[in-house]
Formats: sequence, structure tokens, C-alpha cells
Amino acid sequence: MATSRISLTRFLIERQRDKALINADLRLLIETVARACKAISHAVNKGALAGNLGSAGTDNVQGEVQKKLDVLSNEILLEANEWGGNLAALASEEMEDPHPIPTHFPKGEYLLLFDPLDGSSNIDVNVSVGTIFSVLRCPKAATGGGYCEADEKAFLQPGTQQIAAGFAVYGPSTMLVLTVGDGTHGFTLDREMGSFVLTHPDIRIPEDTAEFAINMSNMRRWEPAVKRYIDECLAGKTGVRGKDFNMRWVASMVSDVYRILTRGGIFMYPRDDKNTAGRLRLMYEANPMSFIIEQAGGASTDGNGRLLDVKPEGLHQRVAVILGSKNEVERVTSYHKG
Ligand code: F6P
Repeated sequence: MATSRISLTRFLIERQRDKALINADLRLLIETVARACKAISHAVNKGALAGNLGSAGTDNVQGEVQKKLDVLSNEILLEANEWGGNLAALASEEMEDPHPIPTHFPKGEYLLLFDPLDGSSNIDVNVSVGTIFSVLRCPKAATGGGYCEADEKAFLQPGTQQIAAGFAVYGPSTMLVLTVGDGTHGFTLDREMGSFVLTHPDIRIPEDTAEFAINMSNMRRWEPAVKRYIDECLAGKTGVRGKDFNMRWVASMVSDVYRILTRGGIFMYPRDDKNTAGRLRLMYEANPMSFIIEQAGGASTDGNGRLLDVKPEGLHQRVAVILGSKNEVERVTSYHKG
């Protein structure tokens, strides 16, 4: 059995050699991010034993309290990715500006964005959290053909330009979900072997669902289209939908999206009259998750159109997110249009 296992390394080499989907630099980048996720998984798992729980006593660029594990995860990802020679710059939820590659290291053609520890309000209560990442190509400088100055502008590309995206979820098993544009694939961390093993190849999301995920405490603030959709779900068998719906809200996007990849569902963090632009971050939450969901046969919208088409205006821009089973996402979209 052990010999037939496909490790992340073998999976990536096959994408490089047999399909020419990625090059050696991108392979190294994904492997490095995966290695950093293993280190973060270890730190999350150690929790209080390593003194890792609680607040770091600082706020991030969004004005949110940083947890010790937010700061540590950010450092792990920066340290792991600075020296490989494949990146032009990095950007993170935890840093206001892009992080340049130190001058003593070579630079490469990619841009890496990440949310080092998504759902970190769940850390201290021992609920699954995760790491989300997105890879873009750094636009070449207009003159000279060299690599761009990797300032904020270089990162402001729509989600359709992503070369790869993934997330790790540190749950009962540590899972890595990845797309390089040929489907969405899931890997489970084998802790003894220290490697991610392909356990969920070519994940497909059912087109229909009877399960929704939304923070119901915001109901009074929602847009009418979202309110209508949820009201119809809540009406169940006796309402226009003619079936009962179930609700799940982990309040940890990686867990909610992982569940949708596993058994279908719809995830919504719509705009509301408190979060007028939406709550989640476009560049390192919504875009990578939308790429992953689309590659698994699902759909993703900001209510107005395909989320991956949104033209970013800022690194930390927020956006409304509605993603998951295709037919349900299309229904919510049609309510917005109506
Ligand atoms: O963006 C961080 C995040 O924790 C997501 O992982 C999650 O979906 C959302 O915020 C939860 O928001 P709320 O606390 O409003 O339910």
C-alpha cells in the first residue's frame, strides 16, 4: 500500500513533467508553502504546551487583535519563502505592505499572498483553523523585460490570474487542498512520514445542496436578496423550496469551505449595513477559495458577478462572498439581479 501512495512531491512532479502545468520554480514554491503549513500545524497542535495560545498584544492592519499563533504563522511563512529564489514579493493579512525579498536573496517571477492563520478567533477554543494562499505571476516591468518592482500595484490582479491556490486546515487531520488549474485535490498530512499524501483526488462539489453556512446574527443587516434566499431555506418543506435545509457555521472559512468540498453546501458572507463592502478579504481569502471551488465544479460570486473577475483596488480590500454548490450560488445570484 505504501508504495502506491502519491505524495505531494510526486503529484507536483507529474504536473510539471507530464502536463507542463507548472515549472520547477512553482513546484518549489508550493512545496515550500506546504512545508511551512506542516510547521504551523505542529505549532497549532502544541497549543498551550508551547505557550502558543492567547493574544500577541498587537493589532493587525485590519485593526483586529493578533493572536500569538497569527504572528508565529506569518513568521514561519515568511522565513520559509524568502530565500527560494522563486518569489518577487510576499503579502499577508498580517502585514500592511508587501514584504520584499531581502536583497541578499535572488528574486523570481511569482507573488505569494496568504492569510497565515484564518479563523484565528477559533484558536483558543480549539476549533479548526487554517492557512490560505494564492500565487500570482509578477508582471514584467514595462521596459527592460526585468521583473516588476513588486509593490502593492503588482499584486492587484483579478483572481482569474491566479496560477495556484490552496489552503491547509488544521483539524482532526491536517489537510492541504490545492489547485494548479487542473481540478482541486486534497492531501492528508501523514505525521509519521512527514509528507502530504494525495487522499482526495479530483474533488467534485455536488451541484445541489440542502445545507447553508452564514452568520445568522447579521440577518437584520443583510441585503434583500440574501434575506430572501435564507428565508426560503428556513421555510423548508412548507415553503417555495419544498425541502428542509440544514445550517452549519463554524466561523472558520477553511472548515466551512472544506465541508462544502466534501459534501456540498453554500457559504455566504454577504455585504451588510455594517460591512458595506463585505467582511472577507479579496486577495488572500475570497480569490484563492473561489479558484479552488470553481476547479471543483462549484461557483463563486460577490452577488454582482463572478468573484474571480473582481478588479482589486487594494491589497486588503474586502468583498462579499457567496460560494459553493453551483445551482444554489446561481439562485442567489439571480435574486441579486432580480
Ligand atoms: O476572515 C476570518 C474569519 O474568521 C473567517 O474564517 C470566517 O468565515 C469569518 O471570519 C467569521 O466571521 P464571524 O466571526 O463574523 O462569524
